[in-house]
Amino acid sequence: MTIIVTGGAGFIGSNFVFHMLGKYPDYRIICLDCLTYAGNLSTLKSVMDNPNFRFVKEDITNREAVYKLFEEEKPDMVVNFAAESHVDRSIENPEIFLNTNILGTAVLMDACRKYGIKRYHQVSTDEVYGDLPLDRPDLFFTEETPIHTSSPYSSSKAGADLLVLAYHRTYGLPVSISRCSNNYGPYHFPEKLIPLMIANALHDKPLPVYGKGENVRDWLYVEDHCRAIDLVIHKGREGEVYNIGGHNEMRNIDIVKMICKELGKPESLITYVTDRKGHDMRYAIDPTKIHNELGWLPETKFADGIKKTIKWYLENQEWWETIISGEYRNYYEKMYGNR
Ligand code: NAD
Ligand code: DAU
Repeated sequence: MTIIVTGGAGFIGSNFVFHMLGKYPDYRIICLDCLTYAGNLSTLKSVMDNPNFRFVKEDITNREAVYKLFEEEKPDMVVNFAAESHVDRSIENPEIFLNTNILGTAVLMDACRKYGIKRYHQVSTDEVYGDLPLDRPDLFFTEETPIHTSSPYSSSKAGADLLVLAYHRTYGLPVSISRCSNNYGPYHFPEKLIPLMIANALHDKPLPVYGKGENVRDWLYVEDHCRAIDLVIHKGREGEVYNIGGHNEMRNIDIVKMICKELGKPESLITYVTDRKGHDMRYAIDPTKIHNELGWLPETKFADGIKKTIKWYLENQEWWETIISGEYRNYYEKMYGNR
């Protein structure tokens, strides 16, 4: 089995590469990633010499390069993690989100049509459903919840999802889609809430909480997400959407306070700042379908996962410090520039 994992130098993609190489020693995993600011090749250094692994530095919107890779590797599956993923950046500059997230998805699926594929899997997000009100804790996102996006990021992900379903209906492409809630864990880029707060707290810097910090996210440990995708690509039905989430809703402010407590830092570091434009209030996934059809359940409780995550950031300070300093962007040239 040969699987192209796009975006494998990013947060969830790298965790998925480790999961797959560890669980399936006879699989060949090809990471296709152009190393945007969010891609960090040093994350993959422990697998670079694994004979079952290949890293290819290319852009998923580069049709010629993608077709060439398909000709060389004849993949059985593609799992597409590659995306511009940060909501705040999409508010500043939507265009790159449309290019990568929508056009990149089209290029990958065109390659799948041209060369044949057993499964194209799109890694999507609960943000395509928009948000839920805080005063209706009985409401959850199901796979039937209408698409109703708020940000350029979520709109680009929704556009890609619609295209994936259209390729299934029009061309019969064997696709699947998973829509997951907020992930946390190792290798999370320190612009996102949890790693940003850990890094800032360790530097005794202000902890910028948007608005009143009352927005709710449904947090899932990244390894649980990887196991869910593994199940969907092997056992999930073609043409189907699967929601992934662990019923773990938390207010932002409570997460930030928890991080302060774990690190022994004062809550006086918390600074309330201007709210995100169009800020979604609450996300909450109903994971009944993936549980009933594929037997998936999250394994890591938030109380344990957050402790593990904080420990990882304490033990891997160099990983995130080189991101903050910008040095990580030289890693590819330094290690692989002459190859
Ligand atoms: P990330 O920003 O950490 O990583 C994205 C990766 O994609 C990077 O390695 C980057 O270099 C690569 N990339 C970006 N544009 C590319 C392009 N044009 N060609 C090739 N590679 C490119 O993202 P993440 O948080 O790991 O998210 C991965 C996927 O999961 C995304 O599709 C995101 O929408 C989705 N998702 C994320 C979360 C979350 O909580 N982080 C939750 C649900 C879904
Ligand atoms: O729900 C899945 C989505 O989760 C993914 O599709 C996205 O790719 C991923 O980035 C994430 O989006 P969010 O916008 O929920 O994540 P972020 O970490 O940016 O913000 C989490 C919450 O914390 C959100 O309510 C905004 C708030 N926040 C964020 C930052 C960066 C702050 O209060 N302060 C901050 O500095």
